[in-house]
Amino acid sequence: MGLRSLKDGCSPQGQCGCCTVWVDGSPRVACVTPVRRLDGRGVTTLEGLSDADRHAWSDALVASGGSQCGFCTPGIVLRLAALDGPVSDDQIDRSLLAHLCRCTGWQTIREAAHGALDGAPGSGRPEAPRDLDGAAARAALEGGVPQRVGPDVVLGDAGFADDGCPADALVAVVGADGGYAVAGSLAEARAASGKVQGRSTTVPLVHPVAIPEGDWALTLATTWVEPAYVEPDASWCRPGGEPASPYGNGGSFGGKLHSPVAADARRLADEHGRAVRVLWSREDVVRRGPKRPPVAGGIAADGTGVLRVGVSGAAVTGGEWDAVAAAVAAVAPGLRLEQMVIDGPAVSFDLRAAVWAEAAVLAAAVGLAPADGTPVDGGTVDVPVTVTAPGGGRAVVRCARDGALDIEVSAGPVLDAVVLRSYTIGAAHQALGWVTSEGIAVGEDGRVQDLTVRSFGILQARAMPPVTVHTVEDGVGAGPQAPVNGSDAVFAAVAAARWLADGLPPAWPADRTGAGRR
Ligand code: FES
Ligand code: FES
Repeated sequence: MGLRSLKDGCSPQGQCGCCTVWVDGSPRVACVTPVRRLDGRGVTTLEGLSDADRHAWSDALVASGGSQCGFCTPGIVLRLAALDGPVSDDQIDRSLLAHLCRCTGWQTIREAAHGALDGAPGSGRPEAPRDLDGAAARAALEGGVPQRVGPDVVLGDAGFADDGCPADALVAVVGADGGYAVAGSLAEARAASGKVQGRSTTVPLVHPVAIPEGDWALTLATTWVEPAYVEPDASWCRPGGEPASPYGNGGSFGGKLHSPVAADARRLADEHGRAVRVLWSREDVVRRGPKRPPVAGGIAADGTGVLRVGVSGAAVTGGEWDAVAAAVAAVAPGLRLEQMVIDGPAVSFDLRAAVWAEAAVLAAAVGLAPADGTPVDGGTVDVPVTVTAPGGGRAVVRCARDGALDIEVSAGPVLDAVVLRSYTIGAAHQALGWVTSEGIAVGEDGRVQDLTVRSFGILQARAMPPVTVHTVEDGVGAGPQAPVNGSDAVFAAVAAARWLADGLPPAWPADRTGAGRR
């Protein structure tokens, strides 16, 4: 019907909430609702809300910064708009259990819900009119590629690749043999692909890289982490044309930078002499997309140590590795880098602060850990942890005994406080998940086993502690003079602060209870 607010983040898993509609006024995920159950019933998409409601929700979410890439947002709006205000945080968090947002860290969505449902202003709401171009510039710095900010993003019109595809395009999906099955509709292409989509597993997480030998004050081992951007890789192209960018609205934390779907769409369009739409399912993204690399490292009290990085296939050489080494040298000059070739999925150093964040965590924590290695009261809390990113962004983070985070972020001229705050909270959410619950199971054959959205270990709304953000307007004093990315420094500093507060467990993730895995 050409309604573009509905998104498909995981079908037919029914686990991301992006396809939420109302059926007779109650929210349902469309991808697991058979059409035969809808006979005689009314289906409402975001386009069907009243103008007043659409404006109320888009205003509230723009004001709080509760929509970044915007892929999850229309489904979340429909879920929350079905609540009767005023609402409690607990009611909102329970409603959000059916949804996945990788970007925002939930808090700004909760603020927007209060704003729309009970008229409470979001704490991110600016006092003066916003400069949405400045907001987009800040979002692009934090997200890594051009990005838009505004009501159209909230309402589902952020410009994702699949949304602009002509209705008569052929559809190409990944088949069981790894090639593309091409047909006239998505249903036909999926039927031709011969694949059953979407499984999770009971295979345990492993830490595939061995801790290097040495007399260390601290050691840390991590596993593969799924970037888990919510918009699956997609593109479309006309014969001889330019393919639609799979970046959509935002950087996917670096996860799509080398996605082949645009080249695939161009090749298939030329082969078929028709527009072709290439769609990866969630399972395809997990099987084919790169992961955050697992590491294992040890660091001595004087800051010297070794950080080993697990790579698949063959060792990485040349400029790509030189860039990783330079970033690590900038944040932890005493750490020596090593590579270990292991069986497992492809990894990417483009994923948010990969490798240098791990180095920064070790360096920051060893300087703050109790000298005898014994955690005090189960952890080191309320101690400021400072990380300065290779690009100059700086974060100072305190983690309280109850897990609450206090974050000061310095990223040069702020450009837009709402967006910088939103990305700061989102980076904190990702960092907390990384330390406590995120990881992806890989079998002995090196293949990824966790294929569902809910198996990645991403923290749900109710597991997020409160986050207080202070943005420092730099270009003043010692901070960056030009706008730089701030959220990567936040990511590393929050991880270090939470690790210290948890008593420095030697392997991540340490506890998967906050993630509602299934
Ligand atoms: S696409 Fe339906 S729940 Fe994810
Ligand atoms: S804004 Fe929620 S997934 Fe991007």
